[in-house]
Amino acid sequence: MTTQLEQIRDQQQETWDRFSPGWKKWDDLVISWIAPVRDALIDAARLRPSSHLLDVASGTGEPGLSAAALFPEGRVTITDLAPKMLKVAEEKAGRCRSSTAASTPSRRDSGSCSSRTCWGPRASSRASRGRARA
Ligand SMILES: C[S@@+](CC[C@H](N)C(=O)[O-])C[C@H]1O[C@@H](n2cnc3c(N)ncnc32)[C@H](O)[C@@H]1O
Repeated sequence: MTTQLEQIRDQQQETWDRFSPGWKKWDDLVISWIAPVRDALIDAARLRPSSHLLDVASGTGEPGLSAAALFPEGRVTITDLAPKMLKVAEEKAGRCRSSTAASTPSRRDSGSCSSRTCWGPRASSRASRGRARA
């Protein structure tokens, strides 16, 4: 039997997957809107060159991708409920840093985030369950 929380999760995933082409199309505009918040988040994280940043619900990749660009020696893991949103993030990462991008196919399990992508020289591909592991 599907619980109410599982229904909400599935509905959210379907909705954001359906929105993903729009987020891809308007990415430059959205990024220009969120830039101040993105920059404040990255500043607040006090990242060091070797940091490993976990960006939960990253959608099409912010602020994780911007952090990855600022700290090429570090590592960034992004996660999201909606695989199609993450697919857009992977495409963007591939354009920026194709030599270090890595990803795995989505694997759903009950009540959790699913997909993830890692960047950086120490990037690893893995299928994490539950809350994404850093
Ligand atoms: C506004 S969008 C993009 C957020 C992105 N960090 C940004 O600022 O551009 C919100 C994202 O949150 C994701 N999301 C919503 N609920 C989630 C959950 N419970 N776990 C993981 N991701 C979730 C959606 O799939 C969607 O991609």
